[in-house]
Amino acid sequence: MRTQVAIIGSGPSGLLLGQLLTNAGIDNIVIDRVSKDYILGRVRAGVLEEGMVGLLNRAGAGSRMHAEGLPHEGVLLAFDGQDHRIDLFGLTDKRVMVYGQTEVTHDLMDKREATGGITIYEAGNVTPHGFAGEQPYITYEMDGTTHRIDCDFIAGCDGYHGVSRKSVPEAAIKTFEKVYPFGWLGILADVPPVSHELIYANHPRGFALCSMRSETRSRYYIQCALDEKIEDWGDDRFYDELRRRLPSAHAEAMVTGPSFEKSIAPLRSFVAEPMRFGKLFLVGDAAHIVPPTGAKGLNLAASDVHYLFEGLQEFYGERSTAGIDAYSPRALKRIWKAERFSWSMTMMLHRFPDTEGFGQKIQEAELDYLVHSTAASTALAENYVGLPY
Ligand code: PHB
Repeated sequence: MRTQVAIIGSGPSGLLLGQLLTNAGIDNIVIDRVSKDYILGRVRAGVLEEGMVGLLNRAGAGSRMHAEGLPHEGVLLAFDGQDHRIDLFGLTDKRVMVYGQTEVTHDLMDKREATGGITIYEAGNVTPHGFAGEQPYITYEMDGTTHRIDCDFIAGCDGYHGVSRKSVPEAAIKTFEKVYPFGWLGILADVPPVSHELIYANHPRGFALCSMRSETRSRYYIQCALDEKIEDWGDDRFYDELRRRLPSAHAEAMVTGPSFEKSIAPLRSFVAEPMRFGKLFLVGDAAHIVPPTGAKGLNLAASDVHYLFEGLQEFYGERSTAGIDAYSPRALKRIWKAERFSWSMTMMLHRFPDTEGFGQKIQEAELDYLVHSTAASTALAENYVGLPY
């Protein structure tokens, strides 16, 4: 097989890139080692920046999001037993859209199918080759034979554990990492959200987040120790702990019900530089991870897609390599700002096992400053709704 752009990974970034390319008349194939159902079974992020909403519209995959997504104009920070609202829209003129990553992926899959795009699922041993030279290609195994896709470029949209970054010689890549000493225990349940805006709570017992997927489906998280066992967390224990960490009005109003998903995720910050190796480009989680506290992971993958798509479009349209040459530095500039924001939200809202004294006081001062200073609230708001591309 031959295509112009071979895309490894059929999550939201691979599919979004594929759709933008297809719409621009640039041939592409998406390939994934797992099945469609596996991808749709993963529970991930739920808050989209306006930039990402715009890209989904441009891909022609935005109509269900506009019908079913929930535009939010503010978020609540809860500490000292009280809510403090950050007026995102009033401070930035921008909203965020609450719409699950699973739904985004679904819509992009439907669009790809409707426009005749090729996606190869359950491909064995997917491997990128030759990207340091002029003739890159991908090999994979299926039905007992090895297949080959020749291409002009490879986009590695295959996540942190994917093969793309791992195929780059170690000496060519520099990584930066910070691991946090706790995780998030999260549940999904078909109960109405406790608040119509997200609540980020800092409490002596630990961080808590009340998010949602719709008006009838809640996504709740609590900070937990890394060695916590999911089997020890029945729903009652989870809700009891969550309620303890919220201002009493929310705790009393909370509707509980059986969870249908429960998982523990560690928190980390990670960046690999650069994001281009000859004809191979890393996109999204393949190159960087943020802790979920700022809701930036999926949105950052979308801005990478934007920069890469622009570069590829310029290459095929004008035979100029300026855009693809600028991809890595342009993407990294925005990534590091989102890394900074996600790190600062994480530091401000969690309880750290080792910072009882000074660190704790600094955190309290920061929260107090934040909610009483328009400048500080605006800084949080403009990062939360998403910095410009
Ligand atoms: C979620 O709904 O899963 C979610 C929302 C906001 C975050 C993190 C996760 O900051």
